[in-house]
Amino acid sequence: MTNNFAAGAIAAMAAFAVVPQAGAQEALNLYCSVQVEWCQATANAFTRQTGIKVNMTQKGSGETLAQIRAEAQNPRGDIWFGGTGDPHLAMAEEGLAEEYKSPRLAELHPWAVKQAEDSKYRTVGIYAGILGIGYNPELLKRKNVAEPKCWADLTKPEFKGEIQVANPASSGTAYVAIATLVQLMGEEPAFDYLKKLHANVNAYPRSGTGPIKAVARGETGASISFMHDAVTEELSGLPAKANAPCEGTGMEVGSMTIVKGARNIENAQKFYDWALTPEAQRIGAEVSKQLQTPSNRAAPTPDKAPRMDQVKIIAYDFAKYGKASERKRLIDRWEKEVGSLPR
Ligand code: F6P
Repeated sequence: MTNNFAAGAIAAMAAFAVVPQAGAQEALNLYCSVQVEWCQATANAFTRQTGIKVNMTQKGSGETLAQIRAEAQNPRGDIWFGGTGDPHLAMAEEGLAEEYKSPRLAELHPWAVKQAEDSKYRTVGIYAGILGIGYNPELLKRKNVAEPKCWADLTKPEFKGEIQVANPASSGTAYVAIATLVQLMGEEPAFDYLKKLHANVNAYPRSGTGPIKAVARGETGASISFMHDAVTEELSGLPAKANAPCEGTGMEVGSMTIVKGARNIENAQKFYDWALTPEAQRIGAEVSKQLQTPSNRAAPTPDKAPRMDQVKIIAYDFAKYGKASERKRLIDRWEKEVGSLPR
């Protein structure tokens, strides 16, 4: 696998090693919410391809949406690449996104096109990911705790102080977790569950990948994480695994959106079209071991990527849970009724 990655990475880099076509003065301000290695590789490949200089800022999905809102009167970012789809939909609904119909839309999986349709062509799906339960098999074995296979396992007494999940105000992953539980169980039972879970949580980190990194380093036994993020740690040789919860689980449609009033709108559109090509969509897996399912049907789904057809995935209502008011209501409720409780 590692050799395939290396070979593929070289091929992918070679594909982008073209003579720059545009002036060196041109720029693009990129906000990026995948892991920083992929953000950087994407920015570099785009610059090599086009000569357009990229100023990249990496932050979580909730944090990036907050920044774009704060800058609405004087936009500083041109395009937002990656991060869970719900805040991209909220951005579109709030009038903070430019409408754009890429000629590449026809090449995408239906779930990626639906994201564009739901937003009236103000955002688009670039990858999909499955929410799961991350765990450290070595640490749990030492503690004589069975690997967690179901949501119900995480509230058992043996997981006391062993679980991490990110903070939903800053992390799109954590919001997907809340929205998933609400859709699976109904809102009241889901909040009862989150309160019980809270008693077992040792930290709510800012970033969605923080918990699985803590799992991989042996700092905590289990996490709520996207399954592909566990594979990234495993491919780096660390003891991290993920299970798809037995009751069923939710998913993300990682998205991309052009900022309303972007100063470099043409470059943003160029980036948008390029980021939907199969070549650009190979970068995450091949350069930085990030194994989401790419949205272009011609982009290969990496061997070790968690498969959407092998997991019980709920019919996640992206339009409803991507509504700004619903997102705010659920996060506020979580902060008031769960996050602020003593542990
Ligand atoms: O880059 C890994 C990843 O899990 C993406 O699949 C996801 O869109 C993003 O992180 C979410 O990050 P956060 O939870 O910090 O907003």
